[in-house]
Amino acid sequence: MEFFDIVNVKDKFFEQYIGKYELNSIITGIAQRINNDYKNCSTHNPLIIIGVLNGSFMFLADLVKMLNIKCEIHFIKVSSYSGTETTGKVTEILGLTRDITNQNVLIVEDIVDTGLTMRELYHQLSLKKPLTLDMCTLLYKKVKCKVHLNIKYVCKEIEDKFVIGYGLDYDNLGRNYDSIYSLIEDDVSVWNEKN
Ligand code: IMP
Ligand code: MG
Repeated sequence: MEFFDIVNVKDKFFEQYIGKYELNSIITGIAQRINNDYKNCSTHNPLIIIGVLNGSFMFLADLVKMLNIKCEIHFIKVSSYSGTETTGKVTEILGLTRDITNQNVLIVEDIVDTGLTMRELYHQLSLKKPLTLDMCTLLYKKVKCKVHLNIKYVCKEIEDKFVIGYGLDYDNLGRNYDSIYSLIEDDVSVWNEKN
């Protein structure tokens, strides 16, 4: 057991779900695949990595440290999400200053839930005519996903749980934890009595 195996954020309690050592090992595996798949990228043709803020910042930081290919790192923002139910509403892509036409592009997300955000992002970026456009996500709630997505790099498929930590938030809190925590669905008063 890690020291922080239960954390409290606002009105909710979360229990440790994916520890930092497991995260490190699954990200290492994905980084090896990316290193292999994009080994031909060069200074003139680097892999354009596009992280989706805010959620992907920690995952992306750890992932790119393990890459030995030529790559550029950029960030975009899409419309925000609050609470524990995803809205799936994407208004626009903000902050993309890099021309991605004819480039190899990899979108990096923290989590794919209904899949609507990723589908919209993929669609909008594909209109810019990249040479290749692929998706990478730390977590994938496959059972919740409403749309067909061909995600090339999935670090881990998870059940239908609301999770925080390692970049993921609950009302903008909890992003700083180095592990992933899942919501304890029990009534908190019941949980308090039990402990
Ligand atoms: P989707 O459009 O339903 O796939 O959701 C995409 C966005 O919702 C993600 O990029 C997250 O920002 C947020 N989200 C979905 N599920 C969770 C979760 O369990 N915890 C925190 N944020 C989540
Ligand atoms: Mg996100």
